[in-house]
Amino acid sequence: MIIIGSDHTGIELKKKIISYLYENKIEYADVTNFKNQDGDDYPGIARTICTEVLKDKNNLGIAICGTGIGISIACNKVRGIRAAVCTSEYMAEMSRKDNNANILCLGARLKNSDRKENAISITNSFINNFYDGGRHERRLKKIKELENMYLEGGR
Ligand code: RB5
Repeated sequence: MIIIGSDHTGIELKKKIISYLYENKIEYADVTNFKNQDGDDYPGIARTICTEVLKDKNNLGIAICGTGIGISIACNKVRGIRAAVCTSEYMAEMSRKDNNANILCLGARLKNSDRKENAISITNSFINNFYDGGRHERRLKKIKELENMYLEGGR
């Protein structure tokens, strides 16, 4: 299932992606608002999306803020989350194949054709590529070690 959410900057982009998911019969859950609300800051949105994504190992998330940066920083604080800001189909593809990213972060305020016009194809690439495993397993294990080290307060 695709878990999707945005802060106030990303509501229109979120609707566009939801239409794409719906039209393509891709199962999704929209976990945030459809209109601006006070306090819909990206850290809280990240928290909601991450909580849902972690409920099932097959879930993927799509997290939208103005640039994709703030929400990715917030998502990546959560143990077990690998969030990637992607501005091209290639980045989305490789975030899945190499990094086993489980959340795609998009920036709704980016004006270049790199992003807004391509949001659907980036989403499509993220959803339809899969982790390669193999040599990448070692690297993801090292990320997990970092995650654990800092959670335990080590340096
Ligand atoms: C909100 O104004 C904006 O700062 C946020 O959407 C995001 O771009 C932060 O990285």
